[in-house]
Amino acid sequence: MTVQEIVNKHGNDREHLLVILHDIQSASPDNSLHREAIDELARVMDISVADIVGTASFYTMFSLQPRGRHIIRLCESPPCYIAGEENILAALERRLGVKVGETTPDGAFTLETTSCLGACGVAPVMMVDDEVYGHLTEDDAVRIVETIATGAAA
Ligand code: FES
Repeated sequence: MTVQEIVNKHGNDREHLLVILHDIQSASPDNSLHREAIDELARVMDISVADIVGTASFYTMFSLQPRGRHIIRLCESPPCYIAGEENILAALERRLGVKVGETTPDGAFTLETTSCLGACGVAPVMMVDDEVYGHLTEDDAVRIVETIATGAAA
């Protein structure tokens, strides 16, 4: 889907910028907002590149750097932290062989931490792409990633 088509889908209005950026990022092969796409969006919506970059930089869900095909976002806010987030993060780092903010060499996963995902009642919580997983254990987190990796390889 092109930038123009995404803007047409949501409507050319500044209030739709976040959902438009989300769709542009999702359509990108490396889960990021490319400079060319931002330039085109600025032209199509008649807003400044600085405005778009400022908005994209403010929200952790957007990235201006290339990322993996799947984004793992582990919540590190207090309820999830107390429920064992640190151990889950360590297990994921071991399994993936990367640290927070890094992408696996095969380009499959980027590991990130985030503030509250709004699912504190089922802490600890992680989100992989658009899917939320709660009541996580270390084994659960590793199994979820392995299932996705297997599916991605199929
Ligand atoms: S604190 Fe983790 S989902 Fe709210």
